[in-house]
Amino acid sequence: MSTPEAVRVTLVRGDITQQSVDVVVNAANSSLLGGGGVDGAIHRQGGPEILAACRELRASHYGKGLPTGKAVATTAGSLDARWVVHTVGPVWSSAEDRSALLASCYRESLRVAAELGARTVAFPAISTGIYGWPMDDGARIAVRTVLAEAAAPVEEVRFVLFDAHAFVEFEEVLAAQG
Ligand code: APR
Repeated sequence: MSTPEAVRVTLVRGDITQQSVDVVVNAANSSLLGGGGVDGAIHRQGGPEILAACRELRASHYGKGLPTGKAVATTAGSLDARWVVHTVGPVWSSAEDRSALLASCYRESLRVAAELGARTVAFPAISTGIYGWPMDDGARIAVRTVLAEAAAPVEEVRFVLFDAHAFVEFEEVLAAQG
């Protein structure tokens, strides 16, 4: 359990591909071969180096794809970052509680980032887009997991929210955490 005050948690309204940070976290799918949303934006802005590195990972360690809740790092290509950490969020289900898998995305991404020596990490609101997770619950899981798990060398965790709705939900959760 880290001392929450050791790590600054910040909120930014904007595009994650425009952040100047050590690690940009990608809301990927298990194929690691790109997609829409954040995934599409990161590959578009970051360039072909990222996809080449993902293909290499598929060929070497993740033949069956990256499992949900896991995280893996690649080059950040031409993004203003040192690495992209790809993580696969769970698809929302009203029948099954997959919260632990979503929390694992944040925990595993922080672990990989810390292993790399990253000091600043930018997260999108994982699973709250194409994967359909309700934004309020997605924000709660994201903020609580980061406050509980973030530790040195990570100094700042920046949630980059693409729209006003997401920003307000994260703001409310962060305020409630004190
Ligand atoms: N910067 C920051 N946030 C963004 C950006 C961006 N450029 N583009 C989208 N978002 C927001 C969305 O509004 C949503 O709140 O990121 C959140 C996650 O949305 P998705 O990117 O759709 O990711 P997710 O819901 O986890 O679905 C993953 O979508 O893109 C595919 O290949 C990906 O199959 C995977 C699935």
